[in-house]
Amino acid sequence: MSAAPAGEPGQLLQRLVALQAQRGWLPPAALEALAVEMALPLAELRGVAGFYRFLHLAPVGRLRLLFSDHVSDRHQGAPALMARLCARLGVAPGQVRADGALSIDRCSCIGLADQGPSLLVNHGQVITRLDAARIDALAQAIEAGLPPAAWPAEWQQVDEPVRRADVLLGAADAPGAALAAALAQPGSALIEALASARLLGRGGAGYPVADKWRACAAQPVTERVVVCNADEGEPGTFKDRTLLRLQPDALIEGMTLAAWALGARHGLIYLRGEYRWLLPGLQQVLARRRAAGLLGAAIAGRPGFDFDIAIHLGAGAYVCGEESALLESLEGRRGVPRIRPPYPSSHGWRGLPTVVNNVETFCCVAQIALRGAARWAAIGTARATGTKIHSVSGDCARPGLYEYPLGTPVARILADCGAVDAQAVQVGGPSGHCVPARDFGRRIAQEDLPSAGAFTVFGPGRDLFEVARHAADFFAHESCGFCTPCRVGTTLMARRFDKIAAGSGSRHDLDALRSLTELLGSSSHCGLGASAGRMLHDTLRHHRPAYEQRLQSLQFVPGFDLDAELSQARALTGRHDAGAHLATRETDVTRKHEVMPEPDAPTNPQPQPQRIAP
Ligand SMILES: Cc1cc2nc3c(=O)[nH]c(=O)nc-3n(C[C@H](O)[C@H](O)[C@H](O)COP(=O)(O)O)c2cc1C
Ligand code: SF4
Repeated sequence: MSAAPAGEPGQLLQRLVALQAQRGWLPPAALEALAVEMALPLAELRGVAGFYRFLHLAPVGRLRLLFSDHVSDRHQGAPALMARLCARLGVAPGQVRADGALSIDRCSCIGLADQGPSLLVNHGQVITRLDAARIDALAQAIEAGLPPAAWPAEWQQVDEPVRRADVLLGAADAPGAALAAALAQPGSALIEALASARLLGRGGAGYPVADKWRACAAQPVTERVVVCNADEGEPGTFKDRTLLRLQPDALIEGMTLAAWALGARHGLIYLRGEYRWLLPGLQQVLARRRAAGLLGAAIAGRPGFDFDIAIHLGAGAYVCGEESALLESLEGRRGVPRIRPPYPSSHGWRGLPTVVNNVETFCCVAQIALRGAARWAAIGTARATGTKIHSVSGDCARPGLYEYPLGTPVARILADCGAVDAQAVQVGGPSGHCVPARDFGRRIAQEDLPSAGAFTVFGPGRDLFEVARHAADFFAHESCGFCTPCRVGTTLMARRFDKIAAGSGSRHDLDALRSLTELLGSSSHCGLGASAGRMLHDTLRHHRPAYEQRLQSLQFVPGFDLDAELSQARALTGRHDAGAHLATRETDVTRKHEVMPEPDAPTNPQPQPQRIAP
């Protein structure tokens, strides 16, 4: 995978990934041998392995199936399909079957929301478009002992439905064309072209690319690094998958252009573990470009222009998409976001000045180098220039990839993808925004609605409380645990959702949820915690009835059965009269479907004290 020596400490994660692929899990003896070989403490190996979802310190099934758990997978029946497969194969969800042959579980979105429900086989193969018939056929193949490599090819078919192409998804340019255009001028000219094109990063934060590259180029050292963030962990996003498959030359050309502009010799692609099935294709493209003189030594015949790229695999941790966590992971450690400053542009991979950019951003760079900054700047809005690719999924007739100029209204995308009567759209995944129907005139651009690329449509029948609850579960699971507000806050949020879902919610719980979003937004160390409450915030604001119809009371309602908890006290005191039970007054009676006051309106009635009898 990587060009670095295998015994080198920075290769630890890659060695563990390889061991896991070989053995199916990480047996203690194999870990001990690896620790000796790499001269690292065993505890470090265990600590790193324990962080990543795809690495297992205990045996898992020899065949491991993970159902993608994007919200659209759920809406298309993934939970029932998983239950069906578990029943057919006699295994409980999340458990290893008694014979050790298989385990079936869920994982977060695997980047196939446009052709789900889908699942991941042994972290390296996918099955798309699951339905009851496919599940039954799969169960049969497994029971017959057919190995995954021999399963029908159509099960593994991944289409790239490009529904609307513009400059990025149009016909691929000849490999080397953008490079030839840029090499006519010094590297600094390319940075200036990116500045006048006003290119913003496409990974979510929308930071000006030229500023990042300038800061990196200004560092007084000779070695710099170019990193491509191909982690694409935001649920519902799959545009990088398409670019990696349809436009890999544009991506690698963009990285090579960065190397030219910065004088970098070393490039790294961080490929999410869920996309391991893309690895062979990408390795082939790298090899082809090396053979064509477009990578390696003296690129395009220029003595001294030496640059090559290695691919590192992630192992199932969403937070590793955050650029400093990604660098930690690239250095073989747990993906915990770094304290910043210093920023990667001065202290990145192994302390070297590093630019980290998204897959789509590098493709934009290649376009600007080839076609010029003016053409790019003429597309889009004043602040957000060029085009943006949207990964459209959910309740629409034509899910897939849609590339539009930035500034395109949500309504236009909905019309094009055949979404009828949508009640809301999640723009930018769970960490983005949930846009209600009355705001469909809003435009996707930095000035209005920024987006990392996901566009998930919710039709009239969808329960937006469950959508927000799903997001809360996701963040609670993915929090790296480094800082308390996020570690505790995301879990408290998820459990509070559970309480409301279980029918024990009150107005008090909604207030508590609102306070949690404020806490997360204001005191989290990285963007994961900061955005963890966004779905809750937006749905509570725009779809409040979805919460209210579940509330039991305006009063405080405990998350457990208080009366039952008092049964022991009743037994001890020998009381069996009605007064020994919690009183049920009129104000405590279930008030389901009652319209609650808006958050800022005066609360009425005031909570009544409850009489608790022993
Ligand atoms: C929790 C979290 C996850 C992220 N995941 C990704 C990701 O999967 N891909 C990505 O390009 N950027 C992701 N980012 C943004 C990166 O930190 C960073 O801003 C980006 O890679 C910079 O590239 P760009 O300037 O080209 O957008 C994530 C940020 C956070 C806080
Ligand atoms: S905000 Fe969450 S994910 Fe980010 S560093 Fe803190 S605990 Fe980790």
